[in-house]
Amino acid sequence: MKKNLSRRGTLALALTLSFTVALSGAVGKERRPTLFNDWPTIQNPVKRDDAMEQKIAQIISGMTLEQKVGQMTQAEIRSITPEQAREHYIGSILNGGGAWPDMKKHASIADWSALSEKFYRASISTDMKTQIPIIWGTDAVHGHNNLFGTVLFPHNIGLGAAHDRGLIGKIASRTASTVRGTGITWIFAPTLAVVQNPRWGRTYESYSSDPQLVHDYAVEFVNGLQGTEMSSGKIMGDNHALASAKHFIGDGGTYQGKDQGENRASLKDLINFHGAGYYGALEAGVQTVMISYSSWNDVAAGKDHGKMHGNKELITDALKGKMGFDGLVVSDWNAIEQVPGCARAHCPQAINAGVDLVMVPDDWKQFISETIKDVETGVIPMSRIDDAVARILRVKMRSGLFAKSPILSAPKSAALDTNGQDRELAREAVRKSLVMLKNNNKALPLKRTSRILVVGEGADRVERQTGGWSMTWQGTENEAADFPNATTLLAAVRKAATGRVDYSVDGQNVDISKYDAVIAVASETPYAEMKGDVAYPASLQHSERYPSDLAALKTVSGKGVPVITVLFSGRPTYVNDLLNLSDGFVAAWLPGTEGQGIADALFLNLQGKNSQDFQGRLPFNWPGSACPDAGSKSILFARGYGLTFATPRKVARLSQAAAPNGCATDKK
Ligand code: BGC
Ligand code: BGC
Repeated sequence: MKKNLSRRGTLALALTLSFTVALSGAVGKERRPTLFNDWPTIQNPVKRDDAMEQKIAQIISGMTLEQKVGQMTQAEIRSITPEQAREHYIGSILNGGGAWPDMKKHASIADWSALSEKFYRASISTDMKTQIPIIWGTDAVHGHNNLFGTVLFPHNIGLGAAHDRGLIGKIASRTASTVRGTGITWIFAPTLAVVQNPRWGRTYESYSSDPQLVHDYAVEFVNGLQGTEMSSGKIMGDNHALASAKHFIGDGGTYQGKDQGENRASLKDLINFHGAGYYGALEAGVQTVMISYSSWNDVAAGKDHGKMHGNKELITDALKGKMGFDGLVVSDWNAIEQVPGCARAHCPQAINAGVDLVMVPDDWKQFISETIKDVETGVIPMSRIDDAVARILRVKMRSGLFAKSPILSAPKSAALDTNGQDRELAREAVRKSLVMLKNNNKALPLKRTSRILVVGEGADRVERQTGGWSMTWQGTENEAADFPNATTLLAAVRKAATGRVDYSVDGQNVDISKYDAVIAVASETPYAEMKGDVAYPASLQHSERYPSDLAALKTVSGKGVPVITVLFSGRPTYVNDLLNLSDGFVAAWLPGTEGQGIADALFLNLQGKNSQDFQGRLPFNWPGSACPDAGSKSILFARGYGLTFATPRKVARLSQAAAPNGCATDKK
C-alpha cells in the first residue's frame, strides 16, 4: 500500500513504529508505553458519497417505524422463514455455527445459494416504498466453515505463528470468494482479540498477544475480504465480502481468561493494546463491527463500566465519534440480555449506546414489538433509529447489494476449490504455522524411507485438527464423513513416507524397536466459546486433561527410537512432561483440513534435503507451569520462540510440577 502524507498513512506508520519499538528486544514481557492518550481518528478510505447519502435519507423518510425497526433486526435461519422476513421487513439474517440450509449438514452449494435467493427475493417483495435487500452474515472464521466439503484453513492462532502477512490476505480473499459462491455477502471475521490468558476457550480465534501483529493482520484480512478498490459508492467486487471486526472491545483481556468476562484494563490499555486491531481494520475500510459480550471494569480508576453492549462511551463516542466509524455496529448473539435491566428481546440501552443491528436469533418478533414501543414512548429517540437505519443502508449500498442480487453477482462455482488452489494455500499455511519447540539430537527431519509408528488418538481424527467452528458450533459431533476432502496427520504421513507406517492408538503391545521413529499426536478435543474455557483454578496441564496422550507417550518413549510429538491445541498449554518424553516437539495448533502441510515440515523432501525449514514462531508465551496465572515466572518459551533446522538448540530436561489440586493456592 502506498504511503503518502495523508493522515491515514501517518497514523499507520506511527502505530507501526511505536509498537515495533515497544515490543522489540523484550520478547514476551513487553513494555507498553502510551501511544495514544485518547482514541485516534482513523482516516476512512471509503469516502462519503453525497448522492448515496441523499438516497438513504430519502428512503428513510418514506419508512414506517415498523419497517425501520425491522431493518435493525437480525434473525437466525433456524428461526425465521423468508416469508416471515418479508412480512416483518427483516434487515438481516445469519446462520449460527452449525446451522445449514434446511438443517441438512451436507447441504450443497446450490442449497445455500437457493436459500439465499429465497430470502433475497422475499426482502424485495415487501410493501415498502423502496425495497431493501436483506443481508446474510456467517461465521466464516477459518474458511467457510459451515459448508460441507470445503477447505478449512488453520485457526487464527496458527496464522499468528506463521507471521506472514501475505498469507492472511490470500486466505481472506479465498474465503470471501467461497462465501460469495453460496450467496452470502457478509463474514463475521476477523476476531481482533489480543488474548492475555490461554485459559480462554477462544484463544485460538486470536492471532496473537502482540497488538502490532493483530493490527497488521487486521489490515491484510479486511483488505483480502473486502478488496482494496474502494470508491465512494462501492467498496467491494463480486468476489469479495464484508468483514466484521469483532468483538469490540477487550474480549481477549478478561480476568482469568473467562469467556464473556470482565476486562479490568485501564482506558490507556484499552486504547493502546486491545484497540490496535480495530485501527488496522478501520484503516482498511471495515464496514461492520461486532460488540463483545465482555464487560469493562477500569479497576485502577475505580470505575465499572459494565457490559460492552450498553457502553455508549465506547461504541458511540469512541468508535463512531473519535475513530470516525460510519458503518454499522452489530450486537452479538443474544448478548443484549446481559445488559442490566435488559431482556433477551428487549434492550433500549444497547440501541441507545449505539448498537445499530441487533442479533436476536430467535426472539426477533418480540424484539420488534418491544422496540417499537420504546420509540413510541420516547425511550429510544427517533433520531437514533434513523441513524441506525442509515448506517445499515449505507453498508448495504456500499457493498453492492442494491445493485445486484447476491446470487447473480457471484457464480456458485466461486465456492468450489476448482483446481485445488485452496488446498494448496491451506497446506502452505499449515506448514508455515508449525512451531518447533524442541528438536534434540536432530530428531527432525525424518527420512521418507523411515519405518514409522504413529500413536495418539488425534492422529486420525479430523475434528481434532479442525477444532471449534467447524461444521458445528463447538466442532463436536463430527465424523470423518463430514470432512470428505480432509487429510488427517496419519493419512498425510502415509502419503509422505515410502517405508512402513503403522498406527496404534496407545502404542500398547507394539515392538517399538522395529521402527526408525515414532510420531505421537497429543490433542485437545474440539471446543468453542462458552464451553472451551479451562476455568480458573483448574490446571492447564495437557496430560491432566488428556491422560491417554501421556500414557501413549510413556509407552513409546525411552525405547531407543526417537519420538516426535505433534500437538493439536487451541492454546499454548503446559506440556513439560510431554516435552521430556519427546525428542522433537511441534506445536501444530488447529491446522484445519490440510494435514499434509505437517508432513511437509516433518519429512525431508524427495531429494533427501530439507527445502522448507520451520518458520513458525510462538504468537503467545508458552507456559512453563500448570498455573499460568502466576505471571512471567511461568513462561517456558517466550512469544517469538521457534526453532529451525538452521539454528538448532538443545532443550534440557524440564522440571515437572503438576497441580493436581488446581491453581487456587498458587501465588499470583
Ligand atoms: C459469537 C460470535 C459469532 C456469533 C454468531 C456469538 O456467540 O461470540 O463470534 O459471530 O455468535 O454465530
Ligand atoms: C449458534 C452459534 C452461537 C451460539 C451462541 C449456537 O447455537 O449456532 O452460532 O454463537 O449458539 O450461544
